[in-house]
Amino acid sequence: MSEKIIIFDTSLRDGEQSLQASLSVREKLKIAFALERMKVDIMEVGFPISSPGDFNSVREISKNIKNTKICSLARCLDQDIDVAADAMSVLKDFRIHIFLGTSHLHMKYKLKKKFDDILNMAIRSIKRAKRYTNDIQFSCEDAGRTSMDNLCKIVEQVIHHGATTINIPDTVGYTLPNQFGDIIHTLYERVPNIDQAVVSVHCHNDLGMAVGNSISAILSGARQVEGTINGIGERAGNAALEEIIMAIISRKDILKVHTTVESKEIYNTSKIISKICNIPIPNNKAIVGKNAFSHSSGIHQDGVLKNRKNYEIISPKTIGWKNVQFNLTSRSGRAAVRHRMKNMGYKDNEYDINKLYESFLKLADKKGQVFDYDLESLAFIKNQNKNSEYFRLQDFNVQSNCNGYSSALVKLICGKKIVIKSATTNNGSVDAVYQALHKISGYSIFLKNFQLIAKGQGKETLGQVDIIVKYNNRTFHGLGLSTDIIESSAKAMINVLNSIWRSKQVSLKFKKLES
Ligand code: KIV
Ligand code: ZN
Repeated sequence: MSEKIIIFDTSLRDGEQSLQASLSVREKLKIAFALERMKVDIMEVGFPISSPGDFNSVREISKNIKNTKICSLARCLDQDIDVAADAMSVLKDFRIHIFLGTSHLHMKYKLKKKFDDILNMAIRSIKRAKRYTNDIQFSCEDAGRTSMDNLCKIVEQVIHHGATTINIPDTVGYTLPNQFGDIIHTLYERVPNIDQAVVSVHCHNDLGMAVGNSISAILSGARQVEGTINGIGERAGNAALEEIIMAIISRKDILKVHTTVESKEIYNTSKIISKICNIPIPNNKAIVGKNAFSHSSGIHQDGVLKNRKNYEIISPKTIGWKNVQFNLTSRSGRAAVRHRMKNMGYKDNEYDINKLYESFLKLADKKGQVFDYDLESLAFIKNQNKNSEYFRLQDFNVQSNCNGYSSALVKLICGKKIVIKSATTNNGSVDAVYQALHKISGYSIFLKNFQLIAKGQGKETLGQVDIIVKYNNRTFHGLGLSTDIIESSAKAMINVLNSIWRSKQVSLKFKKLES
């Protein structure tokens, strides 16, 4: 059996300390539960001396998390160590993580101490932490820029006095993979008692090397890896744990180690952390980005339809991502369009693929992404152009005051008639317009997502509204653009209403055929 890599998550400490506003205890608990479900081996949940809020959240997490080892951070100061132990005291077994700068720069300019003083502080702190636990992690802060002689000396001493995990951080993300791997390798060669501790690494991403450096360290013998989900953290962030975990799983042929993390929880955990921390995941982020498994070009989509392995090294299901579909764009080929129609239950003889593909390309050029319901209406509804839209905005009027009270009157062309409805809400003008529109359409829809972005600059700036709506278990997308953001919002919703209307026409048509 291969050796296990201990996965140490520090999203709630190194990740959280980089956020603009600290998280509430409730939010931290939600993240801690997600990490527990993901079965990370250890979670570092705070720096209790740093604030009463941090102390309190470490205490609450310690009370609630049952299956993951909890760890808290402390400087080499008695009070830090005592407070960290106090915050976790409800637990029988916990880890104290002590850190101290060991690089020339940190010793001279930050700590203003000589190496011998650093050594003594470290030893003293290990002894202090031993009063509370046998699980003591020591970090040589800025190890990436620490002289190898000093690093070997301090590592040997702290192990000798009781540190059970030695963490080697590349605090400023300065090292390169071969260099960082060499540091770990040298520790194994030169520190006589190194086998009495677990060697851990903690890499920052300033040069974009955090994951590469961590993997290089594993190859050199490190057996604990620290990081955060989505790579959140100080400056350019920490090593993204989901990337390290998936590298361990998918490249065991080379790495020859394993992890016991539940990879199927990665997607969910990543979403939770992104939402709570208010840090969107870039579309092209490895493993968890929106495009990580979406194939765009016709050649790739066709290749994946023939065998997913042609262009996929990981199945999205491995990280718990179900129902990944191709984005249908102007780069998609016939095979992808036909496949999507088949997924929706349409047989090849129910539509003309050549005609459909031709109109699909025209729409994709205009719209960018084409959705299921667009395909259906292209395939089954004749003479579609803007003037043949069933719902068209004729006019609207809104009034609102600063207490949130708003009323809207909307005039909508519905087929051949004009319908006028009004609505009042205490939730703002857009909501009032949406209520009036719903009264007119009668569709019972759920607004899942509303996004407003400014397009352009100065007076010409347009407000673009993108909405995602659920109707009868189907998802519809709407887009509206105008200099007036109420009008863009109304247009986006009318866009959706027309898509729903067309999809209803398609269902009616098929019901007729079936009967
Ligand atoms: O980056 C770093 O050096 C740290 C230490 C506290 C481990 O976060
Ligand atoms: Zn760090």
